[in-house]
Amino acid sequence: MKKLILFGVLLGSFFSLNFVYSAPITEYLQPYLVVGDNQFILRAISNSSTCPSVQWDSQPPEIMKVRVNEGKIPARNKSELIDADFPILTCELVWPKGVKEGKINQQVFKLPPSEIKKIVVVGDTGCRLKAAEKFYQDCNDQVKWPLAKVMAQAAMKNPDLVIHVGDLHYRESPCPESLGGCKDSPWGYGYDAWKADFFDPAKPLLEKAAWVYVRGNHEVCSRAGQGWHRFIDTNSWDEKRSCNNPANDGHGDYSEPFSVSLGKAAQFIVFDSSKNGAKQITEKDESFLIYLNQFKKIEQLAVNKRFNIFGSHHPLNILLPAKKKDSESEYQLYPTGFTNLLASLNGEELLKSPINLTIHGHNHIFEAITYEMNRPAEIVSGNSGSSLEELNIPEIALSEVQKKLLKIKEFASYQNFGFGTLERQDDNGEQWLFTEFDINGKSLLKCNVSGRTVICK
Ligand SMILES: [Fe+2]
Repeated sequence: MKKLILFGVLLGSFFSLNFVYSAPITEYLQPYLVVGDNQFILRAISNSSTCPSVQWDSQPPEIMKVRVNEGKIPARNKSELIDADFPILTCELVWPKGVKEGKINQQVFKLPPSEIKKIVVVGDTGCRLKAAEKFYQDCNDQVKWPLAKVMAQAAMKNPDLVIHVGDLHYRESPCPESLGGCKDSPWGYGYDAWKADFFDPAKPLLEKAAWVYVRGNHEVCSRAGQGWHRFIDTNSWDEKRSCNNPANDGHGDYSEPFSVSLGKAAQFIVFDSSKNGAKQITEKDESFLIYLNQFKKIEQLAVNKRFNIFGSHHPLNILLPAKKKDSESEYQLYPTGFTNLLASLNGEELLKSPINLTIHGHNHIFEAITYEMNRPAEIVSGNSGSSLEELNIPEIALSEVQKKLLKIKEFASYQNFGFGTLERQDDNGEQWLFTEFDINGKSLLKCNVSGRTVICK
């Protein structure tokens, strides 16, 4: 009988223990450094109930401020099948003046040098899951979606700065059960999709250098804009701009241009083209004045330095095989929504001197274009992970006749996955070398950037 009672007590205590036991939540903390308008902001995403501390140099730790609390935002419309769940805090602190180093846990961040020597350029990085187009990239296959490899290789180049030319989030639809390549992928606009699509694969590069982000059309309010404002946008948090309420999209869909110094004579100018990629903008559009004022501001920013790189997600022109309906010639330069507006302001120069080079993504390819006329040279670097352009030709090869027809002086392209580096070649920052790498970090093309030319070998 005693044995039976003892057994009962043991059994009871086992169940009561089991009842109170809950598995410990694994602590998740992702720190990263973003570059905004004349400021660096240290951020951290955390699943803890409080923000972590930063140790600036040898000062006592400072607790980071909450940028945005956790939240589950109801789906903005019926086509969004799930709510956007952000069960994490976004924390931040503006980098204090005079401080050299910021440490979160064991992760040390340093400011880039004032004279930037090496920049990594990536773009269009996420894994495309899009039911409306019946397109499902194999997110679980590192050959079909090689972003983790690209980011690890890019981190090994030890850049001072990273530029992401936009489109970070692609997992908009659930992976069909029948497909193994994307099986169990998170999807929708909440944090689990952002984590899988961006923060996890980008981790080695996020922890290596400060990032400048250019906003892509995937980050407009009607798509992954909520995550954009929580994690990436460098303005102070503003609920009106958060993309949580569609009635406020007129605020959340636009951002003011800003510049990032690359040294004494050079700077990078960031333009948010996300809302107006395809449609030619006209005076009738309500955004016409917004963009017109933004281009005026860009002109004012540009005169502060001798060498300017302009970054927008959408290329001002992209060279692609011509669609039959567009042209009899083999290739065509396709404009973006802003090209006509810029042509009406500045003629065929599009962007006035001293803007020397423009850098873009959107098209999932690498292209380097020098024009015959006086116009900034152009680099498209949108091949870092998302499904590539389906061009059905092994490479774009321009004959001399076609170049003349398109008013192109120099052209190079690479149609597979990769990333680029932009390395300074002179003291002032008026000569740069753009190198295009494959996913294994092997150098493929070396392109000299100077004046308004980009010439690849
Ligand atoms: Fe895009």
